[in-house]
Amino acid sequence: MQVPDIIIAIDGFSATGKSTLAKLIAETFSFLYLDSGALYRGVTLFAQENGYIDPDNTIHEAELKAALDAGLDLHFGLDGTYIGDRRIEKEIRTMEVSGQVSPIAAVPFVRAFVDGKLHEAGAKGRVVMDGRDIGTAVFPNAEVKIFVTARDEVRAQRRYDELKAKGENPDLQEVMKNLAERDYIDSHRETNPLRRAEDAYVMDNSEMTLHEEIVWTQGLLQGRFRILE
Ligand code: DC
Repeated sequence: MQVPDIIIAIDGFSATGKSTLAKLIAETFSFLYLDSGALYRGVTLFAQENGYIDPDNTIHEAELKAALDAGLDLHFGLDGTYIGDRRIEKEIRTMEVSGQVSPIAAVPFVRAFVDGKLHEAGAKGRVVMDGRDIGTAVFPNAEVKIFVTARDEVRAQRRYDELKAKGENPDLQEVMKNLAERDYIDSHRETNPLRRAEDAYVMDNSEMTLHEEIVWTQGLLQGRFRILE
């Protein structure tokens, strides 16, 4: 199926399977996949390692801002997220980073910093990007917007399985608590909170297989672009 060179924006709460869907779309239709959350996670790791955020979530904003303004080389490499030539893919997926990423992502200058990187990375089009504000703020003119949801217990179990598979030893209650906290902060912050764009299609994938998700997306694209295949 020939899909035109468009931008596909995928938004939704934490652990709804946005990145799995986005990767599948990228693979199926030869799009570039960009994970916007990875950049917020990268800034969080950088802040943790340099003492710009305390364990109680106090953010040393002036120092963090100065460091970002000085030019933090956070970018998408071919095989994941990098700071300079250091691949940080594993470090940014830990519970430690997950626990502090939402407060960091609520800081307006952090959002401006990440938005700049996302626009740069997505400039060439034929991109599928996932996050919380892609269809509402980063690429409001994206041709296709999908808002993904799933039931809370399904999401917690998925995130738990994911951490387990990575060799971590998560606690299901702890995972649920983290998801609930992030959902709250992500959808209540002042700058570009998570919400469904009015023109986004909603996918509840609680009971869907990956195959069903891609068939759903194919149907959406076919209808939207009148692709007769
Ligand atoms: O998708 P994720 O779980 O990797 O995202 C990590 C955090 O980054 C999430 O809790 C909120 C923030 N985020 C955001 O505010 N805006 C985005 N476009 C993507 C992520």
